Amino acid sequence: MGTSFRSSTLLLLLVLTNSFCHSELQPSSETQTLLTIQSLLGYPDVLSSWKNKTDFCNIEPTSSVTVVCYEGSITQLHIIGEKSAPPLPRNFSTPLFVNTLVKLPSLKVLTLVSLGLRGQLPGSISGLTSLEILNISTNFFQGVIPQEISSLTNLQTLILDDNLFHGRIPDELSSLSLLAVLSMKKNLLNGSMPESFGILENLRVLDLSRNKLTGSVPNIRRLTNLQVLQLGDNSLGPQFPQIGSKKIITLVLRRNKFHSAIPDEVSSFNQLQTIDLSFNKFVGRFPPSLFSLPSVTYLNIGENRFTGILSVDMACNAALKLVDLSGNLLSGSLPNCLLSDPKNRVVISANNCLANGERSQHAISFCSTEALAVGIIPHHQKKRQASKMVLALSVSGGIIGVIIIVALVFLALRRVRGTRIVKSPPDRSMKEKASAGNSNLHPDARYTSRAMKLGALGVPAYRTYSLKELEDATNNFDTSAFINDGPYSQMYKGQLKDGMVIAIRCLKMKKSHSTQRFMHHIELISKLRNQNLVSALGHCFECYLDDSSVSRIFLVFEYVPHGTLRDWLSVRSNRKRLTWSRRISAAIGVAKGIQFLHTGIVPGVFTNNLKITDILLDQNLVAKIGSHNLPIIAQNMGKEKSDIKDLGVILLEIIVGRNISTQNDVEIVMDQLQASLTADSAARKSMIDPAVRNAYSDESLKTMMEISSRCMLKNPADRPSLEDVLWNLRFAVQVQDSSQSSDASPDSPFRTSVPWH
Ligand SMILES: *[C@@H]1O[C@H](CO)[C@@H](O)[C@H](O)[C@H]1NC(C)=O
Ligand SMILES: *[C@@H]1O[C@H](CO)[C@@H](O)[C@H](O)[C@H]1NC(C)=O
Ligand SMILES: *[C@@H]1O[C@H](CO)[C@@H](O)[C@H](O)[C@H]1NC(C)=O
Ligand SMILES: *[C@@H]1O[C@H](CO)[C@@H](O)[C@H](O)[C@H]1NC(C)=O
Repeated sequence: MGTSFRSSTLLLLLVLTNSFCHSELQPSSETQTLLTIQSLLGYPDVLSSWKNKTDFCNIEPTSSVTVVCYEGSITQLHIIGEKSAPPLPRNFSTPLFVNTLVKLPSLKVLTLVSLGLRGQLPGSISGLTSLEILNISTNFFQGVIPQEISSLTNLQTLILDDNLFHGRIPDELSSLSLLAVLSMKKNLLNGSMPESFGILENLRVLDLSRNKLTGSVPNIRRLTNLQVLQLGDNSLGPQFPQIGSKKIITLVLRRNKFHSAIPDEVSSFNQLQTIDLSFNKFVGRFPPSLFSLPSVTYLNIGENRFTGILSVDMACNAALKLVDLSGNLLSGSLPNCLLSDPKNRVVISANNCLANGERSQHAISFCSTEALAVGIIPHHQKKRQASKMVLALSVSGGIIGVIIIVALVFLALRRVRGTRIVKSPPDRSMKEKASAGNSNLHPDARYTSRAMKLGALGVPAYRTYSLKELEDATNNFDTSAFINDGPYSQMYKGQLKDGMVIAIRCLKMKKSHSTQRFMHHIELISKLRNQNLVSALGHCFECYLDDSSVSRIFLVFEYVPHGTLRDWLSVRSNRKRLTWSRRISAAIGVAKGIQFLHTGIVPGVFTNNLKITDILLDQNLVAKIGSHNLPIIAQNMGKEKSDIKDLGVILLEIIVGRNISTQNDVEIVMDQLQASLTADSAARKSMIDPAVRNAYSDESLKTMMEISSRCMLKNPADRPSLEDVLWNLRFAVQVQDSSQSSDASPDSPFRTSVPWH
């Protein structure tokens, strides 16, 4: 018992002694390691205090050297060299150096900055298994980043900035699941960002700026902790990164190849302080909500292709220090709030089309013309279709095959070749032309209120739309938004953010075609604005990624809610039916619409193959020719009287109140009509739509019948002119109204604004 007690005491003593000796021994071997490091680095000045006898765990930290111990083991080592220091010894060996470092197995934090370290970083660095923070910036490490780093599973911060690392970023880094800071800026890294970065859910800082990275930014929606995303000075693009973090503070995408619109979600990043999108090819409408993000202080969108109209009354965050909008296609006026504090805020607005911007603003036509050439890249990568050109754009909703673009190409060419020399850059903006009724306004005034912006027609100025806007408006072109289908196009109904209901015709392009060329077509479409035409509100180009040629065109039209004129005549229809005088008014609207197509734009648009089903009625029952159904076949130019004949058929249908679809039908009804014209009023009464049989004047009906039959004369030269038609229609409505004033008010259902629907 006694012996055993003694021996256990001895054992205890031995253990104690041993552990005491051990605690002496361990630092001394680590001391040796540090001294070896000193020697391998060629005794740099910053380490001059390191001696054989130095107690490293207790030296005063300096700005360049810090050693931290925990329970006798070195857990942190920071050595920051001087830029002016002489280079490392010639025989410096990177593998030997790293193999020495790994003799500090408790190291959690290692900073080796500006030491002139060079060569390939050996995979043996993974021997530092406790490492949590590694910062080896500002050295001359070269070669690829060793994938062995990925076995440092405790790593939370990895900083490789300002070295000569090249090649691809290893995919394996994504297994560092604790990684919160990953910074590799200023290297020569190429290839694309690893897709797998999308799973680094703890990432707060990702800085890959100033490399040679290409391709798209992987989906980083899962990185919900991301605060800093710095991707500047690469060749990334074209889509705006898919950011899922509401905590984002810094977003720098400058000098890349981004070529998309700013997604709406950016306007919800309430922590965002720094936004730098400069020197890309961003397109689409600049969201003014970025001015008023609650935290924003730095907003640079300079040198892009952003469009949109700014206005003086927009809101902005008072803390904004810098706003750079230069070199875009912005029009309107800078918000007053931006200009309010020039001492504390720099605002750069050069090279836009702003009314109150700095000097070197362009004429407004520059921005609107350029904006038309700007395409939007689809969200999903499109496969290049190598098929041969069929520039096929049918616009027909199934009624008339209409090939707008072909015709427009023709028109555009004709216009260029024509004897009359037309100056190619329009001297007034399309917008101004489009809402000519508005042109007497002060230029600034037109941006001041929504009502004014809407122009004389009550529709917004023509503009480009982003694909995102149209996708949002149609719930991603959902089947519920689908209206109808043609051989090359589909029609969708949608609702914009501001509540405006729109119709979108989606035209597939089968061949690449110069964007320049499309501008002409679009320019013509944008001019089709008239009280009696369905107005085009704008367009959106979708482009192939590889060469930016146009793959689809979306034409955005005002949505005309009350169906076609035929719907309002048919006896079987459940709708209310148009009174006689409303019918004549609708006919006047159609004639005025045709008149505009012929003479209101240059070159005129003739031979429109109009049918009554192409005539739509708006909420005020104003007749509008559905311009998206216009077959603008320029080859038939000059045969404008065929539109007169079509108008005659429409008048005939208005009178009899039913379908007259075949040519044979037309001839039969025409014969009856002519017979009744020369007969008595009872004969005429038998012709007219029973729905209005009790409220029309015979004089008015007779006038309508006459003009209708003259419009359909076989010889086009015998047909009346549009002016003639209009005069007669106006006469018909006058005689009807004067006969009615003594009557009750059969017109009254149509005075109340929108009681149906
Ligand atoms: C430190 O010790 C080594 C031998 O371990 C010796 O060669 C060297 O001269 C010593 N340096 C100093 C500064 O005492
Ligand atoms: C490098 O050369 C120096 C002498 O110039 C020598 O003392 C040192 O051991 C050499 N280091 C290596 C790693 O070969
Ligand atoms: C890396 O370390 C240096 C020296 O301490 C420091 O200046 C730099 O900010 C560090 N890098 C990062 C990204 O923290
Ligand atoms: C990346 O750079 C290396 C050389 O540094 C080169 O061999 C390789 O082809 C480049 N890869 C890409 C995708 O550019």
